[in-house]
Amino acid sequence: MQIHSSIADLRSALKGRGRVVFVPTMGNLHAGHISLMTQARAHGDTVVASIFVNRLQFGPNEDFDKYPRTFQADCDKLAAAGVDVLFAPTEADLYPEPQEYVVEPPAIQNILDGEFRPGHFRGVATVVLKLFNIVQPQAAVFGKKDYQQLMVIRNMTRQLALPITIIGGETVRADDGLALSSRNGYLSTAERAEAPRLYRLLNDIRDAIRSGESDTVKLENKAVSELAAAGWKTDYVAVRQQSDLSTPNGVNTPLVVLAASRLGNTRLIDNLEV
Ligand code: PAF
Repeated sequence: MQIHSSIADLRSALKGRGRVVFVPTMGNLHAGHISLMTQARAHGDTVVASIFVNRLQFGPNEDFDKYPRTFQADCDKLAAAGVDVLFAPTEADLYPEPQEYVVEPPAIQNILDGEFRPGHFRGVATVVLKLFNIVQPQAAVFGKKDYQQLMVIRNMTRQLALPITIIGGETVRADDGLALSSRNGYLSTAERAEAPRLYRLLNDIRDAIRSGESDTVKLENKAVSELAAAGWKTDYVAVRQQSDLSTPNGVNTPLVVLAASRLGNTRLIDNLEV
């Protein structure tokens, strides 16, 4: 696997490489990331991954400084997964001057995660567009675990007419249902044992909707109460339309249940399509 940190080196390494499929990450890779790499391999000739902890998408009180950086272990995993090229820029490579030109997503950036992480999706969209411009892939793979992020990137790609196919990768879960996430490493042993409750409650909501329950607000409130009783502090549990994350309108459209809640200091997110 080739590793490049400079934009110029990466560009010359990618010349004549056929169809490039790109998987951007922030490192601290787990089986969920590796499954995105495997999926990427099926869509092109050259798989390019990136590792970059993007300061722009972290709020001032968030975990940018303590975000786990495990570069050597990540390289070993990517090489074993058959990734061809890794782009691992430093902040000076990617942001040699303050990034003043940014992508400002529309109102979707202010709901759900965006309500609790102001500026987060601006930071994500900006770095992803910049990485797309550097790598110039024909396709890119993003995990469905970050459901709202995937939607922001799909919409940006479509509206800006970027010639890139966006592929959503299924969430990979531990045996007890907990969605794999780099932030799971922050959980204490007791918190890790409690953490699968979030996915169980999403399943309860999905099952209730499938059985005909139409009062989605009642279902959301019940889940928030159950989480509170177990010591969680919830940002949201929300049943939304898959198409645009708006609230259900009573018409029979595909729904998704999304949640973000905190166990101790660790904020976990998850979602489940109904
Ligand atoms: O999902 C992530 O890891 C990040 O948000 C991304 C897409 C790599 C942008 O920094």
